[in-house]
Amino acid sequence: MKSHPPFKFPKNFFWGAATSSHQVEGGTDNDWTEWETSSKRLKYLERKGLIKKHGISTYVSGRACDHYNRFEEDFKLARSLGHNAHRFSIEWSRIEPVEGEFNQKEIQHYKNVVNSLRKNRMEPFVTIFHWTVPRWFNKKGGWLSSKAPDRLVRFAEKITAALKDDVRFFITLNEPDIFATHPYLIGDWPPCKGGLLSYFKSLDMLVRAHIKVYDAIKSIAPNSSVGIAKHNVHFEMARNTLLNRFLKRAGDSFWNFNILDKIVEKQDFIGLNHYGRNLIDAWFGQNPNYRISDLKWELFPPAIYHVLMDLKKYNKPIYITENGLADHHDIHRSWFITETIKSIYEAIQDGVDVRGYLHWSLLDNFEWAEGFLPRFGLIEVDYTALKRTIRKSAKILSSFIK
Ligand code: FCB
Repeated sequence: MKSHPPFKFPKNFFWGAATSSHQVEGGTDNDWTEWETSSKRLKYLERKGLIKKHGISTYVSGRACDHYNRFEEDFKLARSLGHNAHRFSIEWSRIEPVEGEFNQKEIQHYKNVVNSLRKNRMEPFVTIFHWTVPRWFNKKGGWLSSKAPDRLVRFAEKITAALKDDVRFFITLNEPDIFATHPYLIGDWPPCKGGLLSYFKSLDMLVRAHIKVYDAIKSIAPNSSVGIAKHNVHFEMARNTLLNRFLKRAGDSFWNFNILDKIVEKQDFIGLNHYGRNLIDAWFGQNPNYRISDLKWELFPPAIYHVLMDLKKYNKPIYITENGLADHHDIHRSWFITETIKSIYEAIQDGVDVRGYLHWSLLDNFEWAEGFLPRFGLIEVDYTALKRTIRKSAKILSSFIK
């Protein structure tokens, strides 16, 4: 194993990984499960030759990693890697399968999840909304309905009341920007309501939802710490031209700061989800000459330094709530983690209040429309035997933690 310079991270720094319910639990019944086997989706996969190539089970979440039943085993593995924090989301469709009817057994399930984390000395970071919704929610207009924020509040209140004694950190929404883009702008994810108008409407509803959920959590659990998981990109100019300067400014203000500016008063911390840079050369294109992940995303670890420096102006603690790469054969992950941690350390040296790093993801999992092909896990999952194998790179992260 390579040796590292003696980085001194702040005391009580949180190290760990993140997951979301639909991607790992298995056995969910929500808008995504409905969509995954809809005739429109199947026809699309058929037309692209993907069913023939990879099999339909690649694109249906099904039992996923069976984390719903195996969370204890998974948390023990995380603990064995030195993790002292873990981010996960509550599956709304389990808790409120019928509008207004709450399933106590499922609430108890998540209490057990939290207890198991505590038993393993890991701090829970609980995400309220990580993209999947109960079927009824979309039948009532989804995020285009002006009642959507209150619907999320009702669910968030139940969760907060149930977990408040053992959970300090709540994340209201996961990446509202990416979320609004797929289902409500492009229309390629459920409920497939693409269009400019629906994009702006859904974004507006998500921001309102964040604010209301923030207030609701704080009134039930005043000592909790509540934030959003925000997807930020480092927009970098390939050349300093007038047009590039304009594009960078537009990218920063619209993508990176727009939502954060609207919720300044309603966040105790910023959760940063970060996956790289966008090199601007008068247009948004592929970035040349760099390593890429299995999803062809450029791997450029220093980008996180810039994104963190840009967040300094908000004067809030920052937890990195997602960062990672699809790398089935674990070729780049060790290097990626090492370089990323160096860049985070530099940002801390330069005055950014970073308090945690949660890698995406603990386990290989169901990567939304891409299905099970992309492998983001520190731990590899064999989807047939459901066997877990710790990847080498997970140990690199552990060596930093230690
Ligand atoms: C993020 C999502 C997360 C996962 C990673 C790869 O945008 O929040 O669920 O899909 O990308």
